[in-house]
Amino acid sequence: MNSVLQVEGGHPLHGSITVRGAKNFVPKAMVASLLGDSPSKLGNVPLIRDVDVVSDLLDLHGVVIDFDQNRGTMTLDPRNVKVASRSDIDSLGGASRIPILFCGPLLHQLGEAFIPELGGCNIGGRPIDFHLETLRNFGAVVDKRPDGIHITKPAEGLRGAVIELPFPSVGATEQTLLTAVRADGITILSGAAIEPEIMDLINVLQKMGAIISVDTDRTIRIEGVEKLSGFNHVALPDRIEAASWGAAALATRGDIYVLGAHQPDMTTFLNTYRKVGGAFDIDAEGIRFYHPGGQLKSIALETAVHPGFMTDWQQPLVIALTQAQGLSIVHETVYENRFGFTQALRQMGANIQVYRECLGGTPCRFGQRNFFHSAVISGPTPLEAADITVPDLRGGFSHLIAALAASGTSKVSGIDVISRGYEHFTRKLHQLDARVKYVDQ
Ligand code: UD1
Repeated sequence: MNSVLQVEGGHPLHGSITVRGAKNFVPKAMVASLLGDSPSKLGNVPLIRDVDVVSDLLDLHGVVIDFDQNRGTMTLDPRNVKVASRSDIDSLGGASRIPILFCGPLLHQLGEAFIPELGGCNIGGRPIDFHLETLRNFGAVVDKRPDGIHITKPAEGLRGAVIELPFPSVGATEQTLLTAVRADGITILSGAAIEPEIMDLINVLQKMGAIISVDTDRTIRIEGVEKLSGFNHVALPDRIEAASWGAAALATRGDIYVLGAHQPDMTTFLNTYRKVGGAFDIDAEGIRFYHPGGQLKSIALETAVHPGFMTDWQQPLVIALTQAQGLSIVHETVYENRFGFTQALRQMGANIQVYRECLGGTPCRFGQRNFFHSAVISGPTPLEAADITVPDLRGGFSHLIAALAASGTSKVSGIDVISRGYEHFTRKLHQLDARVKYVDQ
């Protein structure tokens, strides 16, 4: 794929597109298949790069995958799981953060796991200390070496543990689930993340034979079982992609019917969308997002773990906020460095200042630590075309929205990053009558 997209902006997006399974769920369900003693079947699988990376990693470990790309169904057969060569694993490192979730299943199946250099978006330090501490709690031996992290199961096997997360981390909660389900005894996890994608992973694990209960106070209790079988499951839809298209409709004064969008997972986004002045209609097929005309309104917004306003929704919505009347305040409390994308927006004419202080909300753990994690957006400011380079997945999609909303023709480079999490996004843009085409650098 050519990675420079020429975007003729200033035209409202309108039409309908479909979102399929969630990027933040599908790869994890694929990893869960490793825990079974029979094949699993997963439906609603999108064609995104993170799915490719996890398929390649599973393939290296002997899992036989059959992916019907048109129907979005995948079967995964883990019956010949094997140790993969470290250099092969390494060659896939740096492409995604999912490899770290292979640890628990591989420890159960093979007694050892290896974590290469991890990828994912550059939106903060993204440490893995919670993951390693969690694995140690189960009795795993974690050995950090220059070539990567080697993890082994002790002779007596992994034991259930009492774990308290310092922050409700999505990844560390999944790490705990994927390890605890087959550990010996009971695991109590407090301070857990309870994102809809995690609840769907719990659905998958229950179908496999796991015993998991979730309390209302972020406590998850897992009773380890000796064996799990394959699952048959249809992935929940991608609420981040759905919200991204919703934000695109607002920023371009357009009208997009997002088929597959699921209201219960998007309640907080929808409330905010309405407060900004966006309109939506919900039916059984999806959600129609549109700009109802008139002036958008500024808001104070704080990102948070679920059920709060999701951090991945922040970047696309900020583009719409540049078109709102007055001062909007956005306080990012999940990642310390998620406003890098605003630099290109300033270049396009947006009026955005970033601050180290916790603005407009409750003090967060980044407040005293010198991170530019609050933003003030003053609008409305007309956006003008620019040549910009995509910084990361969500920031990149936001740049694309900005270019679509701006007057004139922009060139957006490094566009490939977006295919990590947005299925067929250029095809969808054409479906929405966007004037975009790939060009030479
Ligand atoms: C997942 C999502 C990502 C989303 C994020 C928060 C996937 C593939 N990605 O990322 O889209 O933005 O949840 O909803 O599902 N942290 C530590 N130590 C750790 C782990 C995390 O300090 O060992 C910190 C992170 O730096 C971050 C915060 O905890 O500041 C939340 O991270 P986490 O919830 O773990 O995010 P991911 O699972 O990586």
